[in-house]
Amino acid sequence: MTTPIVAQKGPYPHAVEAGKTYYWCACGRSANQPFCDGSHKAVGLAPKSFVAERSATAYLCGCKQSKNAPYCDGTHQSL
Ligand code: FES
Ligand code: FES
Repeated sequence: MTTPIVAQKGPYPHAVEAGKTYYWCACGRSANQPFCDGSHKAVGLAPKSFVAERSATAYLCGCKQSKNAPYCDGTHQSL
């Protein structure tokens, strides 16, 4: 299995809507960060879907190393 690549060494702040499903790019290859655009198919990884619990700004991991994906957990600071 291929490993994720770093899309950005920091989170992507993004407004999400309560109850809506999103597909966070886990592979780092999407041109539509932080969301999946199908580019993972070439590398055998898959996006992580999540439902927003509330309407707010979500800080979605750009480095793809977070232990709490799809959310940034600060891991990018050690890259
Ligand atoms: Fe990945 Fe912060 S951007 S942990
Ligand atoms: Fe990265 Fe789909 S493009 S998970």
